[in-house]
Amino acid sequence: MHNYRQIAEKVYWVGANDRKTHLFENYWPLPKGVAYNSYVVVDEKVAIIDTVEKNSMDDYVASIEAILDGREADYLIVNHMEPDHSGSIKALVEKYPNMKIVGNIKTFPMLKRFYQIHDNLLEVKEGDQINLGDNKLNFYMVPMLHWPETMVTYESTKGILFSADAFGSFGTLDGGIFDDEVDLEYLEDEISRYYSNIVGKYGSPTQKALAKLGGLELNMICATHGPIWRTNIADIIAKYDKWSKYETDKGCVIVYSSMYGNTEKMADNIAHELMKNGVKKIRIHDASKTHPSYIINDIFKFKAVVLGSCAYNGGIFPTMETLINEIEHMGIKNHVLGIFGSKSWGGGGLRRLQEFSKKIKWDLVETEPEALCSPDEKDYCLCANLAKGIAEKLN
Ligand code: FEO
Repeated sequence: MHNYRQIAEKVYWVGANDRKTHLFENYWPLPKGVAYNSYVVVDEKVAIIDTVEKNSMDDYVASIEAILDGREADYLIVNHMEPDHSGSIKALVEKYPNMKIVGNIKTFPMLKRFYQIHDNLLEVKEGDQINLGDNKLNFYMVPMLHWPETMVTYESTKGILFSADAFGSFGTLDGGIFDDEVDLEYLEDEISRYYSNIVGKYGSPTQKALAKLGGLELNMICATHGPIWRTNIADIIAKYDKWSKYETDKGCVIVYSSMYGNTEKMADNIAHELMKNGVKKIRIHDASKTHPSYIINDIFKFKAVVLGSCAYNGGIFPTMETLINEIEHMGIKNHVLGIFGSKSWGGGGLRRLQEFSKKIKWDLVETEPEALCSPDEKDYCLCANLAKGIAEKLN
């Protein structure tokens, strides 16, 4: 069996690698898969912390049985109710009918509605502790990280934080499970894509959680996805701090929607002019080709965003509409913005981007080129002015 391992005295990881699911939450692409992590503390009392997605349930329950070696589970700690972690709760309840389910006041209504579980519930509040013997589990509420019921569990004698989604990642755990055992360079973009798309809407709750947990001694962070952090704890916390403050590097993400290549030509021109004005980190995406999660990941990295769209049926091109809806929904803050477009007749692409710019309230560069059919010298000149304006704001 390779899906459980002892990670500290009396503490075990039990996990599932999911390489079959194409879309996490049926939306986010998973080219490198995803891992679900659960943990077990086997002490005078036994506590299981979170579970795994239901498709991995059979192997998961078999691993729990193997770890417990005939013992019963006393507690199931439910840090987070999203089904990728709560999906095997029912199977555990059937296996260990006397096990108490530990959650907070917001956990149990979800437990009842998702799984029709009403009994053996133990409610904990901020700062409560469950004594397992040598191990002491302490509970801290971290609402909206990433659902309102989310809490974290801190084992205070060893300094282990069971952090639910926080500090998680897309990507399976190939071979190792600790941050110093896996290829972090390979996972780097999946760690940030996970943060920016799953947790990124909740920058302010993330800041509050970091402030709350900042005083704890942390020797290990056990998230429900991705590697267990023990060697790079300061680094991942610093990244979460930076991302949740919407701090970015000097650079520009250009995204276009283009049917016949004319808006694309303007995007390339703006990129070239940015380079001439000293901007080196430039990423160009075609919104019809690249899933918004990769674009949003880049927007969390770089300060400037330039969006361009052709018109389509009197409005904006659908793939750009999807992207700007996503950006608005996530409430991403603190960027420089440029917009441009093209039209053959009624227009609508640039008009919708202008509405977007008013809503998102980023620092807008006023030059807004819109080509008629295909860009001419005057349009390229405006593109150059737009790029200059972006570069000035970046510098
Ligand atoms: Fe991994 Fe919010 O669930």
